[in-house]
Amino acid sequence: MKLETHPEVYQPAEDSHLLADNLDVQKGESVLDVGVGSGIIALTAAEKALKVVGVDVNPNAVKLACKNARINKIHNVEFRQSNLFENVNGKFDLITFNPPYLPVCEKGVLRDSWSGGVNGLEVVWRFLKDVKKHLKPGGRILLVVSSLNGLNNIEGMLAKKGLSFAVKAECKIPFETLYLVQSKSL
Ligand SMILES: C[S@@+](CC[C@H](N)C(=O)[O-])C[C@H]1O[C@@H](n2cnc3c(N)ncnc32)[C@H](O)[C@@H]1O
Repeated sequence: MKLETHPEVYQPAEDSHLLADNLDVQKGESVLDVGVGSGIIALTAAEKALKVVGVDVNPNAVKLACKNARINKIHNVEFRQSNLFENVNGKFDLITFNPPYLPVCEKGVLRDSWSGGVNGLEVVWRFLKDVKKHLKPGGRILLVVSSLNGLNNIEGMLAKKGLSFAVKAECKIPFETLYLVQSKSL
C-alpha cells in the first residue's frame, strides 16, 4: 500500500505495524478504526472487511486518510472527524485503536497522537467507557498498549468495563514493549 504522510499527522511506526500485521478481519465484517492517522489500519482492514469507518480528532488525519484511500483505490472506507465515538453511529464486528499512550501531558494537533496524560491511559479510559455501545454481539476490540502503561492496569480497566483481556502479539522497541490486546464483552 502506498501511504502519503503529512507533517501534522502521526507517521506509521512500530505500533501501527503491530496492529496492521495482526488484524484478523473476516470477510464481510464491519470495522471501526479509532484514531486513523494516515489510514494505515483502516485501509489494511478494508482489504477483507465489507465496510470500514475511520475517525480521528485531527482534521489533517481525516483528509490524509481520504487521500490515501483514493491513491490506493479503496472504496469501502469512510473517514470522518470525531472525538472518539462522538460522531460514530452503529455497531461493529471489530473496533481497532492505536491510541495516544505515552505518559506525557503535551498539547497540540500532532502531540495528541502520543500524549496519553499522566499515566498514558487517559484517552484509553475514555475509549473503554463507551466502546461496548459500538460492539456487535460477539464483537472484539484490538487495542495497542505499552509496558509504560502497565499491563495489569489495562487488564483492570478492561475488567471494570466487563471486557476480557488477552495479549495477541507483542513487539520490543527501545525503552518499552508494545502489546496488542484483544478484548471481548464478558
Ligand atoms: C498513535 S496515533 C495512531 C495513528 C494510526 N492509527 C497508526 O496506527 O499509525 C493515534 C491517533 O489517534 C488520534 N486521536 C487522539 N485522540 C483522539 C480522540 N480523542 N479521538 C479520536 N482520535 C484521537 C490522533 O490524532 C492520532 O491520529
